Amino acid sequence: MAIAYRQWRDGDDLALLEIWGGPETEQARQFRGTLAPSGNKPWRRCIVAEDVVDGVAIPVAAGVVHEASLHPERLWAYIEVDRQHRRAGVGSTLLTMLRHEAAQSPSGVSRLRTKVEPGTPGAAFAEAAGLAPIQRSRLVVVDPGALRLPVFGDGSEAAASEQVEDLATGSVELSDVVGRYYTSVHGWDSPGDLSIATVQRLFLDELSGAHGAIVLRAPKASAFGQGVAASRKGRLQAFAISYAELAPAGDNTEAAAPAGQPTDVFLGHEPKLSAEEAQAAVRDLLALIAFQHPVLLELDDSMEALRAVVEPLLESGKARVLGAETLVVSDPA
Ligand SMILES: CC(C)(COP(=O)(O)OP(=O)(O)OC[C@H]1O[C@@H](n2cnc3c(N)ncnc32)[C@H](O)[C@@H]1OP(=O)(O)O)[C@@H](O)C(=O)NCCC(=O)NCCS
Repeated sequence: MAIAYRQWRDGDDLALLEIWGGPETEQARQFRGTLAPSGNKPWRRCIVAEDVVDGVAIPVAAGVVHEASLHPERLWAYIEVDRQHRRAGVGSTLLTMLRHEAAQSPSGVSRLRTKVEPGTPGAAFAEAAGLAPIQRSRLVVVDPGALRLPVFGDGSEAAASEQVEDLATGSVELSDVVGRYYTSVHGWDSPGDLSIATVQRLFLDELSGAHGAIVLRAPKASAFGQGVAASRKGRLQAFAISYAELAPAGDNTEAAAPAGQPTDVFLGHEPKLSAEEAQAAVRDLLALIAFQHPVLLELDDSMEALRAVVEPLLESGKARVLGAETLVVSDPA
């Protein structure tokens, strides 16, 4: 093997796809999309390794490092090497070259992170390179009726509608809680400053795929104490945002999850709640949204309230993990 290294060029994606074949993990599928020409806005460096086969130099491996405005404290990195060329140090050479580039990133950030599936060559390579897990993430499907429906107040419909509300995804109150919740469960990799507009773009606007939101509120309380009718809504305690399946091109009909297909939901809570309150709010809202239809949740180990509710369901078989776990691995601090 006489491997040569050069900058990524247009057309390399197709040449590599031909030799690599389909992605071997979900992470590989996602990261392949980040292999793209080097540039400065956003900052990205992408390198290709070529081997000479029958006298012709063809791309066999590639590596990329790039900065991200969301979670700016680390750079994303990804390396892939053709199966016939593995365990010969190509991946390590690409990593060394990416680290050299990262040392000159304009932000001054040089720590690398990537996502791997446990038990794969990618995970072994990352470990050998000194990248350690900073988070584990699982996709969980909660079966319909897995949790008993909550009873609100005196059990009347009026009491329930006081606490459970369909909220427009454009709501500033909702965006505020979503942003603070997201930040609170990402202490392990800060998302940086999340403006309301950024939260909207990432989780709530049409392009994010957000379909609808339902929130759970604290019971109304009168500022003048018991006996005086409360006029203001209770504080938002938990939210569930559902995401529509993307409609196939040309299909303008509204795309909801087909019957039986779990609905993709982002479920969170007001981060100022105590651990018990947060758990209760998350439990009640999950019971409501998963009453008749299965729900798909992304469960990070850092989401303590959601874990406390969902892990017993996993143990009792009322929820199941979909696909493989994802580990986010990173250079040490
Ligand atoms: C991960 C990957 C890039 C490694 O490429 P590579 O060229 O084989 O890596 P190297 O030869 O430089 O391996 C360096 C070290 O990593 C470890 N390693 C790599 N692959 C391994 C495997 N399959 N099993 C166990 N250890 C492995 C070993 O310690 C190895 O050193 P050694 O060969 O002296 O024992 C390649 O397997 C791949 O493309 N996987 C799919 C994409 C992916 O998961 N990328 C990871 C995200 S960055």
